[in-house]
Amino acid sequence: MSNMIKRFESSPVIPVLTLDNVEESLRIADILVSEGLTNLEITLRTQNALKCIEAINKEFPNSNVGAGTIVKKEQLQSVKDVGCTFAVSPGFTKSLVQEAKEVDIFYLPGSSTPSEIIELSELGINFQKFFHAGNSGGYKMLQAYANIFQEVKFCPTGGIGQSDFSDYLKLSNVICLGGSWMVDTKKMSFEEIKQATKLIVQDL
Ligand code: 3PG
Repeated sequence: MSNMIKRFESSPVIPVLTLDNVEESLRIADILVSEGLTNLEITLRTQNALKCIEAINKEFPNSNVGAGTIVKKEQLQSVKDVGCTFAVSPGFTKSLVQEAKEVDIFYLPGSSTPSEIIELSELGINFQKFFHAGNSGGYKMLQAYANIFQEVKFCPTGGIGQSDFSDYLKLSNVICLGGSWMVDTKKMSFEEIKQATKLIVQDL
């Protein structure tokens, strides 16, 4: 088993963060990492996402920071350059898979249908992001996939919350999952983020 998969297993809820302010990013990362959520995914959906990633990597060298929303080949080298150890896409193309190999970064591409799962397996990827989990049948769909795709493991992401994250983690084909419910910076204070994180950690 790869070291990256071991890291995901050891802290299986991955906060998905959309950040645009370095100072705020550091405060949020501090809360998450100190409470025990050491794997972080930061989406490339803001102007300052790369700066935030770089700052978090510098300040929290023991965290495991990846970049999400990878939709273009060039982004893979950029995120590696700021210290990301893994890269996540909502879907995949053959050229993204190939580029990730060339850049030498752990790549977690997205699938949701049987054909996508098979195609990724053919490309040698048996650990896949199941996206959008909530709108693609949820944990019941993943449960059905467990018997069909016995070699494939998943990181479901999208539409998961406090009420159902444990249902996903109980499945034999789920290694970890991603979600933003504990870090909704538009609605939550730092204290609320801390309390939401504690609730997760106590259920792990
Ligand atoms: C995302 O794309 O932001 C992630 O999939 C997280 O989805 P969520 O906000 O539904 O948890």
